[in-house]
Amino acid sequence: MLIAGNWKMHTVPDEARALARGVVEAVDAPDVEVALCPPFVSLPAVANVVRGTPVHLGAQTMHEADEGAYTGEVSAPMLRAVGCRYVILGHSERRQHVGETDEAVNATARQALAHELAPIICVGETLEEREAGRAEAVVRAQVEGALREVEVTDPAQLVLAYEPVWAIGTGRSATPDQAQAMHAMIRRLLGERFGEAVGGSVHLLYGGSMKPHNAADLLGRADIDGGLIGSASLAAGSFAAIVEAGEDAVTKMRA
Ligand code: PGA
Repeated sequence: MLIAGNWKMHTVPDEARALARGVVEAVDAPDVEVALCPPFVSLPAVANVVRGTPVHLGAQTMHEADEGAYTGEVSAPMLRAVGCRYVILGHSERRQHVGETDEAVNATARQALAHELAPIICVGETLEEREAGRAEAVVRAQVEGALREVEVTDPAQLVLAYEPVWAIGTGRSATPDQAQAMHAMIRRLLGERFGEAVGGSVHLLYGGSMKPHNAADLLGRADIDGGLIGSASLAAGSFAAIVEAGEDAVTKMRA
Protein backbone atom coordinates (compact mmCIF):
# COMPACT_ATOMS: atom_id res chain seq x y z
CA MET A 1 0.00 0.00 0.00
CA LEU A 2 1.33 3.42 -0.99
CA ILE A 3 -0.44 6.71 -0.30
CA ALA A 4 1.10 9.73 -2.02
CA GLY A 5 0.09 13.35 -1.58
CA ASN A 6 0.22 15.49 -4.71
CA TRP A 7 0.27 19.03 -3.39
CA LYS A 8 0.18 20.49 -6.92
CA MET A 9 0.84 24.28 -6.97
CA HIS A 10 0.12 24.75 -3.27
CA THR A 11 2.35 25.62 -0.29
CA VAL A 12 5.20 28.10 -0.01
CA PRO A 13 8.10 26.54 1.93
CA ASP A 14 6.85 27.62 5.38
CA GLU A 15 3.41 26.15 4.71
CA ALA A 16 4.96 23.00 3.27
CA ARG A 17 7.13 22.54 6.35
CA ALA A 18 4.12 22.88 8.64
CA LEU A 19 1.98 20.51 6.55
CA ALA A 20 4.76 17.92 6.39
CA ARG A 21 5.20 18.13 10.17
CA GLY A 22 1.49 17.62 10.60
CA VAL A 23 1.58 14.54 8.37
CA VAL A 24 4.61 13.04 10.12
CA GLU A 25 2.89 13.50 13.50
CA ALA A 26 -0.53 12.26 12.38
CA VAL A 27 0.48 9.18 10.40
CA ASP A 28 1.00 5.92 12.21
CA ALA A 29 0.65 3.08 9.72
CA PRO A 30 3.43 0.49 9.60
CA ASP A 31 1.98 -1.25 6.50
CA VAL A 32 1.50 1.85 4.38
CA GLU A 33 4.25 3.65 2.56
CA VAL A 34 3.65 7.40 2.56
CA ALA A 35 5.07 9.94 0.11
CA LEU A 36 4.67 13.71 -0.13
CA CYS A 37 5.09 15.55 -3.45
CA PRO A 38 5.35 19.31 -2.83
CA PRO A 39 6.22 21.94 -5.45
CA PHE A 40 9.93 22.18 -6.36
CA VAL A 41 10.66 25.21 -4.17
CA SER A 42 9.25 23.41 -1.13
CA LEU A 43 11.16 20.14 -1.63
CA PRO A 44 14.13 21.11 0.60
CA ALA A 45 11.82 22.25 3.43
CA VAL A 46 9.85 19.00 3.33
CA ALA A 47 13.05 16.96 2.97
CA ASN A 48 14.27 18.42 6.26
CA VAL A 49 11.07 17.41 8.02
CA VAL A 50 10.81 13.84 6.67
CA ARG A 51 14.50 12.91 6.98
CA GLY A 52 14.77 10.01 9.40
CA THR A 53 11.02 9.31 9.29
CA PRO A 54 9.22 6.67 7.20
CA VAL A 55 7.74 9.39 4.96
CA HIS A 56 9.24 9.63 1.47
CA LEU A 57 9.69 12.65 -0.77
CA GLY A 58 8.59 13.00 -4.38
CA ALA A 59 8.49 15.66 -7.09
CA GLN A 60 5.66 16.44 -9.50
CA THR A 61 7.53 16.40 -12.82
CA MET A 62 11.04 16.62 -14.24
CA HIS A 63 13.00 17.04 -17.46
CA GLU A 64 14.45 14.16 -19.46
CA ALA A 65 18.04 15.48 -19.61
CA ASP A 66 20.68 15.44 -16.86
CA GLU A 67 21.43 19.15 -17.30
CA GLY A 68 21.66 21.76 -20.02
CA ALA A 69 20.17 24.87 -21.57
CA TYR A 70 16.56 24.19 -20.58
CA THR A 71 15.36 27.33 -18.84
CA GLY A 72 12.87 26.63 -16.12
CA GLU A 73 13.41 22.86 -16.00
CA VAL A 74 14.53 20.58 -13.17
CA SER A 75 16.53 17.37 -13.65
CA ALA A 76 16.60 13.92 -12.08
CA PRO A 77 20.04 14.48 -10.47
CA MET A 78 18.66 17.69 -8.86
CA LEU A 79 15.68 15.78 -7.46
CA ARG A 80 17.96 13.05 -6.14
CA ALA A 81 20.21 15.65 -4.53
CA VAL A 82 17.32 17.04 -2.48
CA GLY A 83 16.25 13.58 -1.36
CA CYS A 84 13.44 12.55 -3.73
CA ARG A 85 12.59 8.89 -4.05
CA TYR A 86 9.59 9.41 -6.37
CA VAL A 87 8.61 11.64 -9.28
CA ILE A 88 5.09 11.99 -10.66
CA LEU A 89 5.14 11.82 -14.48
CA GLY A 90 2.42 12.48 -17.03
CA HIS A 91 -0.17 13.89 -14.64
CA SER A 92 -3.27 14.79 -16.65
CA GLU A 93 -2.87 18.46 -15.70
CA ARG A 94 0.51 18.44 -17.43
CA ARG A 95 -0.85 16.50 -20.40
CA GLN A 96 -3.65 19.10 -20.69
CA HIS A 97 -1.90 22.36 -19.88
CA VAL A 98 1.69 21.75 -20.93
CA GLY A 99 1.02 19.30 -23.77
CA GLU A 100 2.99 16.35 -22.33
CA THR A 101 2.75 13.37 -24.65
CA ASP A 102 3.21 9.65 -24.04
CA GLU A 103 6.61 9.99 -25.75
CA ALA A 104 7.67 12.67 -23.26
CA VAL A 105 6.39 10.61 -20.35
CA ASN A 106 8.35 7.64 -21.69
CA ALA A 107 11.57 9.66 -21.99
CA THR A 108 11.28 11.02 -18.46
CA ALA A 109 10.34 7.60 -17.06
CA ARG A 110 13.51 6.07 -18.48
CA GLN A 111 15.54 8.99 -17.17
CA ALA A 112 13.99 8.64 -13.71
CA LEU A 113 14.85 4.94 -13.58
CA ALA A 114 18.41 5.64 -14.70
CA HIS A 115 18.73 7.91 -11.65
CA GLU A 116 17.05 5.61 -9.15
CA LEU A 117 13.92 7.70 -8.92
CA ALA A 118 10.70 5.68 -8.99
CA PRO A 119 8.32 7.23 -11.53
CA ILE A 120 4.66 7.50 -10.57
CA ILE A 121 3.24 7.34 -14.10
CA CYS A 122 -0.26 8.80 -14.38
CA VAL A 123 -2.78 7.57 -16.92
CA GLY A 124 -6.51 8.12 -17.29
CA GLU A 125 -9.28 8.84 -19.76
CA THR A 126 -11.40 11.98 -20.17
CA LEU A 127 -15.16 11.93 -19.68
CA GLU A 128 -15.65 12.15 -23.42
CA GLU A 129 -13.44 9.10 -23.96
CA ARG A 130 -15.27 7.12 -21.28
CA GLU A 131 -18.67 8.00 -22.70
CA ALA A 132 -17.49 6.93 -26.14
CA GLY A 133 -16.53 3.52 -24.69
CA ARG A 134 -12.84 4.17 -25.26
CA ALA A 135 -11.58 4.35 -21.67
CA GLU A 136 -9.72 1.02 -21.70
CA ALA A 137 -8.17 1.61 -25.10
CA VAL A 138 -6.97 5.08 -24.10
CA VAL A 139 -5.45 3.88 -20.83
CA ARG A 140 -3.85 0.86 -22.51
CA ALA A 141 -2.20 3.13 -25.10
CA GLN A 142 -0.96 5.49 -22.37
CA VAL A 143 0.53 2.63 -20.33
CA GLU A 144 2.16 1.02 -23.37
CA GLY A 145 3.47 4.38 -24.58
CA ALA A 146 4.89 5.34 -21.19
CA LEU A 147 6.61 1.98 -20.73
CA ARG A 148 8.22 1.59 -24.15
CA GLU A 149 11.74 0.20 -23.62
CA VAL A 150 11.37 0.61 -19.88
CA GLU A 151 13.02 -2.20 -17.95
CA VAL A 152 12.28 -2.91 -14.33
CA THR A 153 13.41 -5.92 -12.34
CA ASP A 154 12.14 -4.80 -8.95
CA PRO A 155 8.49 -3.77 -8.50
CA ALA A 156 9.54 -0.97 -6.14
CA GLN A 157 11.14 0.84 -9.09
CA LEU A 158 7.83 1.74 -10.70
CA VAL A 159 4.36 3.03 -9.73
CA LEU A 160 1.33 3.47 -11.97
CA ALA A 161 -1.55 5.78 -11.06
CA TYR A 162 -4.94 5.46 -12.70
CA GLU A 163 -6.53 8.90 -12.53
CA PRO A 164 -9.67 9.35 -14.62
CA VAL A 165 -9.57 13.00 -15.71
CA TRP A 166 -13.25 13.47 -14.90
CA ALA A 167 -12.63 12.47 -11.29
CA ILE A 168 -9.72 14.81 -10.56
CA GLY A 169 -10.64 17.75 -8.38
CA THR A 170 -14.34 17.26 -9.13
CA GLY A 171 -15.45 15.51 -5.95
CA ARG A 172 -16.76 12.76 -8.21
CA SER A 173 -14.56 9.71 -7.68
CA ALA A 174 -14.67 6.64 -9.89
CA THR A 175 -16.69 3.89 -8.26
CA PRO A 176 -14.66 1.09 -6.71
CA ASP A 177 -15.93 -1.19 -9.52
CA GLN A 178 -14.85 1.21 -12.26
CA ALA A 179 -11.45 1.70 -10.67
CA GLN A 180 -10.89 -1.99 -9.97
CA ALA A 181 -11.79 -2.93 -13.57
CA MET A 182 -9.22 -0.51 -14.96
CA HIS A 183 -6.60 -1.55 -12.42
CA ALA A 184 -7.10 -5.20 -13.36
CA MET A 185 -6.45 -4.34 -16.99
CA ILE A 186 -3.32 -2.36 -16.11
CA ARG A 187 -2.18 -5.26 -13.92
CA ARG A 188 -2.52 -7.65 -16.87
CA LEU A 189 -0.48 -5.32 -19.06
CA LEU A 190 2.26 -5.07 -16.43
CA GLY A 191 2.30 -8.85 -16.05
CA GLU A 192 2.73 -9.29 -19.81
CA ARG A 193 5.37 -6.60 -19.91
CA PHE A 194 7.52 -7.46 -16.87
CA GLY A 195 6.42 -10.97 -15.88
CA GLU A 196 4.04 -11.91 -13.10
CA ALA A 197 6.56 -11.60 -10.27
CA VAL A 198 7.36 -7.96 -11.02
CA GLY A 199 4.16 -6.78 -12.76
CA GLY A 200 1.99 -8.40 -10.12
CA SER A 201 3.66 -6.40 -7.36
CA VAL A 202 3.99 -2.92 -8.88
CA HIS A 203 1.94 -0.42 -6.86
CA LEU A 204 -1.19 0.64 -8.76
CA LEU A 205 -2.61 3.81 -7.26
CA TYR A 206 -6.05 5.24 -7.81
CA GLY A 207 -6.36 9.04 -7.98
CA GLY A 208 -9.29 11.37 -8.46
CA SER A 209 -11.30 12.70 -5.52
CA MET A 210 -10.11 10.03 -3.10
CA LYS A 211 -11.22 11.30 0.32
CA PRO A 212 -11.51 9.90 3.84
CA HIS A 213 -15.14 8.89 3.17
CA ASN A 214 -14.50 6.81 0.04
CA ALA A 215 -10.91 5.62 0.62
CA ALA A 216 -11.79 2.39 2.40
CA ASP A 217 -14.03 1.15 -0.44
CA LEU A 218 -11.45 1.97 -3.10
CA LEU A 219 -8.42 0.68 -1.19
CA GLY A 220 -10.23 -2.53 -0.28
CA ARG A 221 -10.21 -3.69 -3.91
CA ALA A 222 -7.75 -6.36 -5.01
CA ASP A 223 -5.75 -4.33 -7.52
CA ILE A 224 -5.91 -0.92 -5.85
CA ASP A 225 -2.67 -0.66 -3.89
CA GLY A 226 -2.89 2.92 -2.82
CA GLY A 227 -3.89 6.43 -3.74
CA LEU A 228 -2.56 9.59 -5.33
CA ILE A 229 -4.30 12.26 -3.31
CA GLY A 230 -4.73 15.86 -4.42
CA SER A 231 -6.98 18.18 -2.43
CA ALA A 232 -7.38 15.84 0.55
CA SER A 233 -3.58 15.80 0.95
CA LEU A 234 -3.51 19.52 1.77
CA ALA A 235 -4.71 18.96 5.33
CA ALA A 236 -2.75 16.58 7.57
CA GLY A 237 -5.95 15.26 9.16
CA SER A 238 -7.72 14.18 5.97
CA PHE A 239 -4.50 12.80 4.48
CA ALA A 240 -3.80 10.80 7.63
CA ALA A 241 -7.36 9.46 7.59
CA ILE A 242 -6.78 8.09 4.08
CA VAL A 243 -3.48 6.52 5.20
CA GLU A 244 -5.41 4.96 8.08
CA ALA A 245 -7.95 3.53 5.62
CA GLY A 246 -5.00 2.03 3.74
CA GLU A 247 -3.70 0.42 6.91
CA ASP A 248 -7.15 -1.03 7.63
CA ALA A 249 -7.38 -2.40 4.08
CA VAL A 250 -4.03 -4.18 4.48
CA THR A 251 -5.14 -5.63 7.82
CA LYS A 252 -8.40 -6.92 6.29
CA MET A 253 -6.64 -8.45 3.28
CA ARG A 254 -4.29 -10.35 5.57
CA ALA A 255 -7.15 -11.70 7.70
P1 PGA B 1 -7.79 15.20 -6.33
O1 PGA B 1 -6.47 15.15 -7.24
O2 PGA B 1 -7.58 14.23 -5.20
O3 PGA B 1 -7.89 16.61 -5.88
O4 PGA B 1 -8.94 14.79 -7.22
C1 PGA B 1 -5.82 13.94 -7.52
C2 PGA B 1 -4.65 14.16 -8.44
O5 PGA B 1 -4.74 15.00 -9.35
O6 PGA B 1 -3.59 13.53 -8.29
